[in-house]
Amino acid sequence: MTYTAQGPMRVAVLASGGGTNLQALLDACGTGSPARVVLVVSDQPDAGALARARGAGVETLHLANPGDGAALTRALTERKADLVVLAGYLKLVPADVVAAFAGRMINIHPALLPAFGGPGMYGLKVHRAVLASGATVSGASIHLVTPEYDRGPIVAQWPVPVKPGDTAESLAARVLEVEHRLLPAVVLAAAKAGRVMPLFPGGDFDMPSFSPHS
Ligand code: GRF
Repeated sequence: MTYTAQGPMRVAVLASGGGTNLQALLDACGTGSPARVVLVVSDQPDAGALARARGAGVETLHLANPGDGAALTRALTERKADLVVLAGYLKLVPADVVAAFAGRMINIHPALLPAFGGPGMYGLKVHRAVLASGATVSGASIHLVTPEYDRGPIVAQWPVPVKPGDTAESLAARVLEVEHRLLPAVVLAAAKAGRVMPLFPGGDFDMPSFSPHS
């Protein structure tokens, strides 16, 4: 049975930073949507993501000890989270939480994994590494979360061109625009299908109607 039939899929979001990806989800998961953001969790008490959640009337939780897997699992299961989304969450999720949500926890990364991922690869460091490599294409990736940073099975990717004269900041901004479309597309597709669905350019899936090259 899909979440459309049994009520909205309940989404919990973990974020450490400003939360623009969270905002894209909040915007996409309003009334009538098959998915609903029910909880936003952060390891940072002053994260912009928590402020965005409060602004949207969504429950927030500050994790005093992000390494306490039992507390996080309890918080997520008490809210009946169907899907957990890491959107700029910088802490490693404890293995027991990953196990409790196996196949139901996704992370968004601002490059084409498996390249340019792993420990320490976050924020502008990712885009600097892409530029230093001479790659002409970057992109956004969404993958299932496993106990290692950025190494789970990839469920969605979308390419973004690297342009001559790009700085890490300009490339980050171009990738972020795509992230804001790809993440809601994956979450809504999961809600409609009742499970996380692959979403790639050229696949016969419910593709977002956009072209990052336009
Ligand atoms: C995004 O680039 C995301 O891919 C990465 O962290 C950034 C979070 O940005 N994991 P925001 O907090 O959603 O604005």
